[in-house]
Amino acid sequence: MSYHLASTDRPQAVAATEPSPAEFAFRSIVGQSRPLRDAIELAHKVAARRMTTVLLVGETGTGKELFARGIHYAGPTPGEPFVAVNCAAIPESLLESELFGHERGAFTDARGRKRGLLELAGAGTLFLDEVGELPPNLQPKLLRVLEERRVRRLGGVEEIEIGCRVIAGTNEPLEDAVADGRFRDDLFYRLNVFRLVLPPLRAREGDMEILAQHFLTQVAQEQGIEPKRIAPEAMAILRAHPWPGNVRELKNVIERAAILSEGDEIREEHIRVQDRRPLPPHVPDLPAAGAGEIHVLERGRSLAEIEREAIALTLRFTRGNRSAAARILGISRPTLLRKLRRYGIEAGIAAEERGP
Ligand SMILES: Nc1ncnc2c1ncn2[C@@H]1O[C@H](COP(=O)(O)OP(=O)(O)OP(=O)(O)O)[C@@H](O)[C@H]1O
Ligand SMILES: [Mg+2]
Repeated sequence: MSYHLASTDRPQAVAATEPSPAEFAFRSIVGQSRPLRDAIELAHKVAARRMTTVLLVGETGTGKELFARGIHYAGPTPGEPFVAVNCAAIPESLLESELFGHERGAFTDARGRKRGLLELAGAGTLFLDEVGELPPNLQPKLLRVLEERRVRRLGGVEEIEIGCRVIAGTNEPLEDAVADGRFRDDLFYRLNVFRLVLPPLRAREGDMEILAQHFLTQVAQEQGIEPKRIAPEAMAILRAHPWPGNVRELKNVIERAAILSEGDEIREEHIRVQDRRPLPPHVPDLPAAGAGEIHVLERGRSLAEIEREAIALTLRFTRGNRSAAARILGISRPTLLRKLRRYGIEAGIAAEERGP
């Protein structure tokens, strides 16, 4: 089976990366804005304190994983593993044994002993991305590991010492998950020891231009050509865009523009940015009257029912494109997938995207 354990841009089965390529430390984080420099300075400080848990809070594409790697490689044990896990992307049944490991025979499929990622991270770093999606039954187990620095594999009796630092990432305010009862407050307080907020791209003055140039240079280097220039009209479009997908979105837009433009200049027609308006004024194919609206009945409806309907309607609007739906709904794609599973919406969506 192949699933997305890591939230890196390149899909990989298990992201237990080799130690220390310098490009992963803070120098690969591009930008000059005050909020970004402040975040890097804080990250530097906490990097030195190996056992301090860090909570990285930021919208999708703001560089949480980049910062997690930076903290790891700038820390005292860069030669130890950096392991990234996306809590929302792994089926609940697998996540437990991935994190904590299992002994032979712990459950039907457990043919051999398996070390968990907490163990495999050694004296390095475990990055738990989208930690707000950690299933409720695993939350007390993680809390116990963080407090006692020990883990028992599934079906095991032996207590194994855990030496890694845990960095957690979230793109929703974890306080909301606590308020909804989806996330234990004791675990929240335990993770929230050192909170590092990564500003969205639209709040980093001047960084968009610097990053756009940076990605253009990168593309040019790969192709062995001179970096292309960005025409003023094209730049105006980039400046006007709110960048809901942040740096990742900018990177994609620039790479695409560089491919489309044949000359040495990026022009208006090479820039394609997503329109963020949730519903355009006229949607010809939406089903008949009222179907695009969400109704709150007189007797009231649960938030879950309304959420289910909002998701279904948005998917209909995006013709089944889940990445687009996630963007419109303001949640990550893995979160959307989890909600689809929870609400059983999967069936009946005609056009499924072929995304990565
Ligand atoms: N300041 C930056 N300088 C250079 N590249 C950046 C910067 N911030 C982000 N990137 C690049 O943007 C992409 C997204 O970054 P990253 O995966 O770290 O974001 P994220 O916050 O973890 O996103 P998600 O919440 O979707 O997992 C990566 O390719 C990363 O290298
Ligand atoms: Mg990430």
